[in-house]
Amino acid sequence: MPVVRINNYVDAYRLRAQADDIHELAARPNRKSLTEFVNRQILTAIQLAPDDVLVDIGCGDATLLRMAKGMAKGGPSKCIGVSVSVEEQKRLESAFPGLSFITSHAQSLPLDSGSATKIVCNATLLYLPSEDDVLAALREMARIARPGATIWIGDMPEIDEYAHYGMYRGTSMLALLRHLMKHNGLRAVAGMLRRWLKAIVGSEQIVLNSCGILYAGPEKMLQLAESCGLKLKTHFRHRELDESGGVVDSKFRYDYIFTV
Ligand SMILES: C[S@@+](CC[C@H](N)C(=O)[O-])C[C@H]1O[C@@H](n2cnc3c(N)ncnc32)[C@H](O)[C@@H]1O
Repeated sequence: MPVVRINNYVDAYRLRAQADDIHELAARPNRKSLTEFVNRQILTAIQLAPDDVLVDIGCGDATLLRMAKGMAKGGPSKCIGVSVSVEEQKRLESAFPGLSFITSHAQSLPLDSGSATKIVCNATLLYLPSEDDVLAALREMARIARPGATIWIGDMPEIDEYAHYGMYRGTSMLALLRHLMKHNGLRAVAGMLRRWLKAIVGSEQIVLNSCGILYAGPEKMLQLAESCGLKLKTHFRHRELDESGGVVDSKFRYDYIFTV
């Protein structure tokens, strides 16, 4: 399949599960240290205890779960990773046999009400198809949370980053080449033509996704979350690593900690 055309993120992650490098599931290409940094920040914020039940909705390459399980003391008694496709779940299970994974949409979780004491949903809500889906996911988090639970919702953009950074969304190779010419110049076009040739002979896969991302600034996020029964504890700018490894505030992303 040289050029794959899709219009949603479930298929995008299903395809990522085929990559040689399992870190593809975290969708931070060549930035494994950033994934580790982000998930370490989450662990520090949520303060796991031995009797905790941790649910990581959109668990990516399971970095958070691996870190939680590897804690010398105070690790949670139970960790569940939620990924959106069976392909991801199988890939994660074969790479990390000691961890538990389920396949589910965040909008409808097969977990008991009040069963989780720590819930994490990082860099995931932006991939849901609509605001109604975000509301359904927030309601599910509120439902599975035990009273007093800590709920981390992070890496949520306040603007359409794809539009801001001039990233192509669509399923036409010709439109992509035109877009690259306009935004990135001849070198980018030449690079994509090389990849296209490789894709035609079957040594590379190009995935064209027409789906955008969802975004909501703090005011909107709080309004959505509170309408679903979540109570804000705090929110702050998402922190990340720049290219040289320095810690910086994200330009457009926020992290939120809620409870019920
Ligand atoms: C960018 S990765 C985030 C990985 C991890 N949370 C992190 O921050 O390192 C996005 C995750 O969202 C999941 N995902 C995408 N759509 C989803 C949905 N509708 N319901 C649940 N998970 C979804 C994918 O399976 C993937 O694990």
